[in-house]
Amino acid sequence: MRDHQRSQDSRSRVRDSFRRGLDTYHDAAIAQKRIAQDLVAMLQRAGAPERMTRAFEFGCGTGHLTRALVSAHNIDTLLLNDLVGEAEGSACQLAREHCQNVQFTAGAIEQLALPQDLDLVASASTLQWVRDGRLALERLGAALKPGGYLALSTFGTSHFHELVALGSDAAAPNYSDAETLAAWLPAGMELVTLRQAPVVLNFATASQVLRHLRATGVNARSGCQWSKRMLAEFDADYRNQFGDGAQLPLTYDTVWMVARKV
Ligand SMILES: C[S@@+](CC[C@H](N)C(=O)[O-])C[C@H]1O[C@@H](n2cnc3c(N)ncnc32)[C@H](O)[C@@H]1O
Repeated sequence: MRDHQRSQDSRSRVRDSFRRGLDTYHDAAIAQKRIAQDLVAMLQRAGAPERMTRAFEFGCGTGHLTRALVSAHNIDTLLLNDLVGEAEGSACQLAREHCQNVQFTAGAIEQLALPQDLDLVASASTLQWVRDGRLALERLGAALKPGGYLALSTFGTSHFHELVALGSDAAAPNYSDAETLAAWLPAGMELVTLRQAPVVLNFATASQVLRHLRATGVNARSGCQWSKRMLAEFDADYRNQFGDGAQLPLTYDTVWMVARKV
C-alpha cells in the first residue's frame, strides 16, 4: 500500500473513532479539560497579550481549550479546526459566547491551507495524532506574525503506560517527550515554557477504564469483543501490576509547550 493511502486510511479510522465519541467526549475528558486550562494559564504567564486580532486552534474537539482561550483572551477572530466536521457545533457555540467572529474548517491539519498572520496558534491533546510533528510545527510557526505565540499540549512516550504494559493497542501514532517537542521548534521561534508531567485518573474497575477510553474517542482494542473472562483477566492483571488500594490509575503523560516567534 502506498504511504499516502495508508495515512488516509489511518486518518479515517481516527476520524470515525472521535466522531463516535463526540457526544460523550466533553464530560468524560476530565484530564484533557485540566490540561487545556493549564495550557492557557502557561500562555498567560508567558506574557501573551490579553487582546488578539487573529487566533487559530486546531483539533478543537468539543471546545475545552476553546472555552479556556476565549475566557482568558479577547480575540477578534477565532479560526477553529477539527478533523471531525461535527465538532463545529459545540466548539463554535462555546466560542461565540465571548468572540464575535468564529469560523470553523474541517479536515486534517496536515492537509489544511493554514490561515496566516496569526497572533496565536493553539492546540491541546491533538498533536500526537499528527505523524510528522516537525513539519507541522514548521508550518504553524510560519503562519504566525512576529511576536505571535504557539501554545501546544501533546502526550509523551509514557502515555497510558499501564495499558501498554497490559498489551493494549490504544495508542496514537506520535507520542513525543518535552525535549523532542522543543527540538521540533523551527528557527525563529523562541521557547518560553516547556513542561512534562503525569496527569493521573483513577478508576474502580478495568471496565470503567475501557468505558472512559471509548467515551474520549480512544480505540481501546475496538477490533476485539471482550468476553466476561477476558475482562476479568484484564481487571486482575491491571490490579496486580498497577492497583493502588482499590483504585486503578491511568496516566496521561502530558507535555506542554509555549513558544514565541521572534
Ligand atoms: C483528544 S481530542 C482533544 C480535543 C480538544 N482540543 C480538547 O483539548 O479537549 C483530539 C481532537 O483532535 C482531532 N484530530 C485528530 N487528528 C487530527 C488532525 N490530523 N487534524 C485536526 N484535528 C485532528 C480529533 O478529531 C479530536 O477532536
